Amino acid sequence: MILLDGKRVAAEIRGELREKVALMKKKPALAVVLVGNDPASEVYVKGKIKACEEVGIISYSYRLPENSTQKEVEKLVASLVKKKAIHGILVQLPLPKGLDADKILKLIPPEKDVDGFSSANFGKIALGEDGVSACTPLGVMELMKRYGIEVKGKRAVVVGRSKIVGRPLAMLLLNRDATVTICHSKTENLKEECLRADILIAAIGKERFITADMVKEGAVVVDVGINRSENGKLYGDVDFENVKEKAAYITPVPGGVGPMTIAMLMKNTVDAAEKNE
Ligand code: GUN
Repeated sequence: MILLDGKRVAAEIRGELREKVALMKKKPALAVVLVGNDPASEVYVKGKIKACEEVGIISYSYRLPENSTQKEVEKLVASLVKKKAIHGILVQLPLPKGLDADKILKLIPPEKDVDGFSSANFGKIALGEDGVSACTPLGVMELMKRYGIEVKGKRAVVVGRSKIVGRPLAMLLLNRDATVTICHSKTENLKEECLRADILIAAIGKERFITADMVKEGAVVVDVGINRSENGKLYGDVDFENVKEKAAYITPVPGGVGPMTIAMLMKNTVDAAEKNE
């Protein structure tokens, strides 16, 4: 079994981006918007700002209180859209209850949409055109690429159909010529579907949901989940301890996909700044 070390690969990518940014006359700039006090979001945003510092991206951090109104958040995002010096806008999700995230995200034009959540960017990816891809799916693809894992012709099963992971990742796999199946909460015979996977992606959001009996011997297993257990420990969507005995490659949690997501946000921000030069 080979561990897909996202922590190491992400550090390598940040190093490459740092060298690239050092040569750029105008430094890339990212605006990070955090609304409310979700503890997980606070950790992710901190990680994103720290990565910006390392790469040489200017980051502007905006915090709004938990009880912010739709109007207040929209006003902030609209003001960031107008700022020429800002190349990328990121609104950390989830937003507090009562706020319409879709309506807020729609204010971000595709060229500043470094998260790749906009219909325009997703549409381009779905059509196999050049577009900004969502960071986690891009990170999964990049991690496999750097380990020399062949995707072409392989049977990939994506468990989860979210807008930010499952759906876009299925499109990226398809663009790389995988045979793709998307499974979800209504899928019948989930175990049999998973057992056929050469590449199994777990993006469900349920602690240790994928068990060893659902995994084919020699499969590539990528775990997108981060779940805080009642015992305070972090677990992925994959039962790592048992699945690792069957997998040829597997990502750990933490230290697998998570750091790759942030590295890809850095890449998307640098790309956005380059296109705006
Ligand atoms: N919440 C969970 N993942 C993400 C992500 O990739 N981007 C943003 N903005 N929020 C998230």
